[in-house]
Amino acid sequence: MPIPASSLPRQMLRRRPVSGAQVAGGTSNHLRRSLGGFHLTMFGVGATVGTGIFVVFPQAVPQAGPAVVVSFILAGAAAGLAALCYAELASAVPMSGSAYSYSYATLGEVGAVVVGACLVLEYGVSTAAVSVGWSQYLSKLSLNVFGLAIPQAISSAPGESEGGVVNLPAIILVAICAAMLIGGTSESAKVNAVMVVIKLGVLLVFAVIASTAFRADRFADFTPFGFSGISWAAGTIFFSYVGLDAVSTAGEEVRDPQRTIPRAIIAALLIVTGVYVVVAVAAMGSQPWQDFEGQNAGLAVIVDNITGNRIGSTVLAAGAVISIFTVTLVTMYGQTRILFAMGRDGLLPASLAKVNRRTGTPVTNTVIVAVVVAILAGLVPLQRLAEMVSIGALTAFIAVSVAVVVLRVREPDLPRGFRAPGYPVTPILAVAVCGWILYNLHRYTWMAFTAWMAIALIFYLAWGRRHSALDGGQNGSGAGSGEVIADPPSE
Ligand code: ALA
Repeated sequence: MPIPASSLPRQMLRRRPVSGAQVAGGTSNHLRRSLGGFHLTMFGVGATVGTGIFVVFPQAVPQAGPAVVVSFILAGAAAGLAALCYAELASAVPMSGSAYSYSYATLGEVGAVVVGACLVLEYGVSTAAVSVGWSQYLSKLSLNVFGLAIPQAISSAPGESEGGVVNLPAIILVAICAAMLIGGTSESAKVNAVMVVIKLGVLLVFAVIASTAFRADRFADFTPFGFSGISWAAGTIFFSYVGLDAVSTAGEEVRDPQRTIPRAIIAALLIVTGVYVVVAVAAMGSQPWQDFEGQNAGLAVIVDNITGNRIGSTVLAAGAVISIFTVTLVTMYGQTRILFAMGRDGLLPASLAKVNRRTGTPVTNTVIVAVVVAILAGLVPLQRLAEMVSIGALTAFIAVSVAVVVLRVREPDLPRGFRAPGYPVTPILAVAVCGWILYNLHRYTWMAFTAWMAIALIFYLAWGRRHSALDGGQNGSGAGSGEVIADPPSE
């Protein structure tokens, strides 16, 4: 018996057309191919290095011991393999909205909803996590410069440290970033390059200082928790690689993308992994791994302990405060853009896809994101947030890798600016490595993830599938509120 046109399976599996996709995505037709390999590499490094190495890494040490160094390599391999798959889809499905749009065009509507929900974790929760890391270094800077630590009660979430009530600096940072995004700020290549130099510079300073206290015997008990500890820590610090996929989203602005994108991804991955491993080895050699437990602003505290004065840690904390700021801005921008695409497609309310006539930015969307992110940043401990980011990003990475295979089978002749090298091994390996890290994440992270996915699917079944633009676009124009539905603001 034929399935009726509006049946649930049909709705769940319908896809947006791959070719001509950029009509809805909008901005790509106007972008100039001006980015070269160097700037693209810097873009990848700038969007990636932040709270992960400055804060989440020290917190992950008790999960794996000195073998946390191996966790970095494992997480880097997963991120790198998936980034190559991202690059292929970005070149074949030139729509804004990143993995969400790629999934819509290949895996179908329900796949897009699942990936969209994952991206809310990868970007939205990430914004909260990054701002919490920023807050730790701001407290440290305030202590060093003014002799005044920000009281625990107003600088950490309940359960994060003793007496924590709310993380006010993180909330303020979120509000500042939201205001900047509403005003139309987007990071320029020049600002990004300066931030990258500051970040890598202070991490280098850390590695040099830490290596003066290096003792090889601190690696004697290398794997106190075995391979499962290594894998768990890899899941936590996978957070520090989130952002690398951003390289693939700049595909239409790149000169000679076929050569430039894979080179930039691999260069950014090697730089980021190299820096992480150097910092991790230096840190692990400088103090017993057990000492990392409960160390806030971990890298700065290590520098204090080694030098006996606060000059080094002040430089480090200042560098972290300046450079993590822009990661918050970029991740929040990414979140607004994903919701924008979902609102435009009718899978979320249309108000998320409206652009303010005066500012040219999605004001309602940004305010909603800011409020939710601020609540998370203010009230949830960093480690919980980081693991939620990892589980969302890893799942999205798996979806993208599967989508590469689906599209190659279904549309082998579709023009692709870039093809993942080593196909089909690359996407299969990406799924295997990401899957292994996922498998080892904490039980509570899985429970929270399952609940979040259930909410997303229930919302889709009850509302989204009936308002989908593929169902005839019943999502309303919303004119009259000072906002109009439009293409996403350009980057
Ligand atoms: N990778 C980003 C960071 O570590 C999210 O801050």
